[in-house]
Amino acid sequence: MTKVRPVHESGFERVEGDFYPTPVWVTECLLSKAALRGPVWEPCCGDGAIAKVLTAAGHEVVATDLADRGFGAAGIDFFATSQMPEGCRTLVTNPPYGDGGFRGRAGKAAANMLGFTEHAIRLARQAEGQLALLVRFQWIAGKRVASLLTEAKMHSAIVLTRRIRWFDNGGDSKTGQHHHAWIFFDFAAPPIGGPSLVFADGPDVQRDRRAPLDQSVLPLFGRPSTDADG
Ligand SMILES: C[S@@+](CC[C@H](N)C(=O)[O-])C[C@H]1O[C@@H](n2cnc3c(N)ncnc32)[C@H](O)[C@@H]1O
Repeated sequence: MTKVRPVHESGFERVEGDFYPTPVWVTECLLSKAALRGPVWEPCCGDGAIAKVLTAAGHEVVATDLADRGFGAAGIDFFATSQMPEGCRTLVTNPPYGDGGFRGRAGKAAANMLGFTEHAIRLARQAEGQLALLVRFQWIAGKRVASLLTEAKMHSAIVLTRRIRWFDNGGDSKTGQHHHAWIFFDFAAPPIGGPSLVFADGPDVQRDRRAPLDQSVLPLFGRPSTDADG
């Protein structure tokens, strides 16, 4: 089990590697509003919180992460990949959005998210595939981000009207301060006039984040190509 070290930043506790597992209902909102084409790559899979929900919905999933969190293939740096794993055309993740994860990339969270999103768009566009990233809703309003999303012809922003509770500590759980959205791209779809804004409510009560599946049901654990592969 990876040790989780809280880091204080502007009064907000972050965890090492920016490991924030995504609650089940958040992925269900994506599935209810976007028709994903599998197999799907989850390149920052953590403990499989998203991957398990996708698998339960019938998708084949390739799950990788830089860290070993006991799920999927560990030791794969998303930034070092040069294409999707074989067979995958859809990339879905909740990226690390702090200061770049435990490899210590410098800079602010928003700038790192921009770099992550640029790379994800490059890989998904190259595969003529789909891309869904979970981001803070406010983040998409930044000038450089808006320009990137416009240039990449974002298909839709699936906005969660319910705020995410990142850590479920029973009665002590606190709902987050931010609203989130899935930004969704489909590089195989015919052009549309502009991105649509879709609202997803989620459940009235936030359910346990774990899907009732374990790793053994995942069919694929392929390695994506990296720059080192040439
Ligand atoms: C916010 S957590 C989300 C985990 C999972 N996607 C989920 O939604 O439950 C971000 C994950 O990104 C991983 N990560 C951080 N930097 C990475 C990198 N450069 N390449 C691949 N994974 C990375 C962390 O280890 C962590 O598990």
